Amino acid sequence: MKTVCTVEEIRDYVHTVKAAGKTVAFVPTMGNLHEGHLTLVTKAQSLADVVIVSIYVNQMQFGPNEDFDSYPRTMAQDEALLKELKVDRVFAPSTSIIYPEGPDNHTAIKVDALDGMHCGKSRPVFFTGIATVVTKLLNIVQPDMAVFGEKDFQQISIIRKMVKDLYIPVEIVGAPIARSETGLALSSRNNYLSADELEHATLLYKQLLKAKEAILIGNTGYDIIQHDALADLAEYGFRPDYFNIIRRSDLQPAAPDDKELIILAAVALGKTRLIDNLQIDL
Ligand code: PAJ
Repeated sequence: MKTVCTVEEIRDYVHTVKAAGKTVAFVPTMGNLHEGHLTLVTKAQSLADVVIVSIYVNQMQFGPNEDFDSYPRTMAQDEALLKELKVDRVFAPSTSIIYPEGPDNHTAIKVDALDGMHCGKSRPVFFTGIATVVTKLLNIVQPDMAVFGEKDFQQISIIRKMVKDLYIPVEIVGAPIARSETGLALSSRNNYLSADELEHATLLYKQLLKAKEAILIGNTGYDIIQHDALADLAEYGFRPDYFNIIRRSDLQPAAPDDKELIILAAVALGKTRLIDNLQIDL
């Protein structure tokens, strides 16, 4: 495994690999890798001949009062994990490559139809930052496919629409949420949680399961389920942001006759923002 930092190096590599008739899968990350990221890598390896992982903490997707400065950066540890998995290349560009004139002076990609709701409501720059950096990374690497986690369901929905709308020649592949034994969705931000909070955090998943159960036995009072879930979460000591029962296709509120649903939820626990979701097929 080799880590490369320039556009030329990664493009030369991909060019050579493709010229030899091999396929390339790409896994974009912000580093501080955990088992969730590694399941994406394994999936990528099952689908393509060569796997490239990028590590770049993208300032453009962080709001002014968010955790860009304190976001965990663990490059040596990440490289060791990826080497163990026999990843072919790590792409770790500097900000002077990604935003030569700074993130504030850059062409932006905004997927209006799926922004402004759920996480986009409380994080106004988040998805524009993601869509922009993912477009850049896809254009730099030019993989055959790119793997994203369904943990960030709104993110992968936005990326799928963006790739379709802009005719970016890549296949977007989803990977299921990796959870700890207690059910907590794995996340780099779980590092911020104290031991007590870590235990507490699993109540978010339990709340999702409770709502899913109610829906599966035929309860279509989605507004009431949402309202009750927010009240429960607040009672458990979370500061809930949203708990939304929606359609997977367009992320709009679910109607009683919709079949492919997902519950998206976001809460704060202490200083940490947690998101999770659960899909439901009726
Ligand atoms: P990051 O949070 O590092 O996540 C990288 C990828 O890992 C994303 O596709 C995310 O959905 C996936 N992932 C994280 N936790 C997961 C879990 N528990 N189970 C399954 N997949 C999981 O998402 C980003 O980085 C950035 O927004 C990025 C797309 C790299 C753009 O900057």
